[in-house]
Parts: sequence; structure tokens; C-alpha cells
Amino acid sequence: MRGERDNIINREREFHNTRFSHGEDPRRYLDKWYQTIRHGAERQDEEIKRLSKDADVLEYGCSDGGWSLYSLHLTDICRSLAGIDVSDVAVSKATERARKIGAANATFVAMNAEAMSFEDNRFDLVHGRGIVHHLDLERCFAEVARVLKPGAVASFYEPMGHNPLLNAYRRRTPDVRTVDEHPLLMSDLALAHRYFDDVQVEYFGLCSVGSALMPSGVRELAYAAGKAIDAVVLTLPFVKRFAWHALLTLRN
Ligand SMILES: C[S@@+](CC[C@H](N)C(=O)[O-])C[C@H]1O[C@@H](n2cnc3c(N)ncnc32)[C@H](O)[C@@H]1O
Repeated sequence: MRGERDNIINREREFHNTRFSHGEDPRRYLDKWYQTIRHGAERQDEEIKRLSKDADVLEYGCSDGGWSLYSLHLTDICRSLAGIDVSDVAVSKATERARKIGAANATFVAMNAEAMSFEDNRFDLVHGRGIVHHLDLERCFAEVARVLKPGAVASFYEPMGHNPLLNAYRRRTPDVRTVDEHPLLMSDLALAHRYFDDVQVEYFGLCSVGSALMPSGVRELAYAAGKAIDAVVLTLPFVKRFAWHALLTLRN
């Protein structure tokens, strides 16, 4: 089991080191699809900024640090920012970026998210995007719960794995994915209850995803309409599993 897990971690490191060694992100062409679920990402951004004030913050699976440092400007509001990622290439980039903007309260370290070297009860907030579905969930949830202070929060925006159309698209685009990643299932979300006292899940991206296929002149209109329909249908118990992304808010 341990050897098998080590192989997966090594594959993840190799894949992402190659990805972050290129000047241009090979996933760029997916941007128009990610635009269709940006309202979930924006919701998470707002929550992270609110919870980061004077807080000790960890970005879990931080890649090149761009999200916390450049999009959210977390180092201007938090007490400390730590970022970990299995890719040492990504972590070097993040460290260089922090140096460039003079963010003395930021530290980035190459580390396995399933076995972190931080002490218990270290962080007020752990946040991540597109990381949990690369990990063994029992180890991930146990580690996140361990490093959070009592009452502190973790926030993750992650892809779901029930929608057959999205899964067909994933099968057609293997080059931008690792072989071991596993978009989350409802049973994975249920597992979170074992590690956290409070588990909130919101779902994003069912009808809104179709707006990516619309001509640019009507795309924003289609996005707004899709979003409005999703706000209703993605509260229905059997429908929500077909959303593209879930926003998880986990509290110790
Ligand atoms: C899909 S990328 C998401 C990166 C970033 N959060 C974003 O939204 O662009 C997944 C990230 O998880 C990292 N990762 C995968 N397995 C990991 C592990 N076991 N420990 C730490 N980081 C890991 C990868 O190196 C990569 O940076």
C-alpha cells in the first residue's frame, strides 16, 4: 500500500514538474470552460479573503502561488501564508514570485499533502482548488483536520465525477490530467463527515457549462441563464451530483 501510494505521488510530481516547466500552461485552452463555473470560484475567493484577515493560512496544493499571491493578495491581509505542493518546480516559482512582491510573510515548501510536516492545530484556514481529487481522501481529510485549529475552516473547490458528458470529455483529453486523479463522488463527500464536525457542499456548473459552446455575442447571456437555472436544479438531491464542481466548506 505504502509503495503504491509512493508511486502515485512520484507520478503526480513528475507530471506537474513537466507542466510547470513549460512557459505556457498546456491547460490554457480549457479556460473558456472554466469561465462557466467562475461564480463558484468567486464565491470561494470572497470566503477565503474574509477568513484570511490576520490569520495563519495554508494553501494546499499551491502550484506556482499565483492564486494566493497575485489574485487574492492574501499576504496583504493574513498574518502568515504557507503554501505546499508536491511539485518542487511549482514551489520554486511560487517562492520567486513571493520574493518579487516582497511578501516576507509567505513560505512555500515542496511537501506531500497526505503527510505534512506541520504541527497540529497550526492554521486558521486551509484552502485549495483542484487538489483534493489528486489525493487519497482519508489521508487528505485526516491531515487537513489535524493542522486546522479548533473551529477553523477548510475550503476546497473540486471537480465532481458523476456527469457522463464531463467524464466522456475527460476521456478525450487525457494529456491535461494525471492518470491517478479521481473527480469526487458523493461517497467521497460523505467521507468528510468522519473528519469534520460541519460539512457544507454547494454545487456549480450544470446548465451554465453549455454557455461555452455559444457564440461569443450571446455567451454571457447564456451563462447568466444557465447560472440562474443551476441555482434551482443543483439543490435537488438527485441532480446535484451531476454538477461539474463542488465547493466544500469543512469545519473542525
Ligand atoms: C490541478 S493542479 C491545481 C493547482 C492549483 N490549485 C490551481 O488551481 O491551478 C493540482 C496540484 O496538486 C499538486 N499535487 C498533486 N498531488 C499532490 C500531493 N500528494 N501533495 C501535494 N501537492 C500535490 C500538483 O503538483 C498540482 O500543483
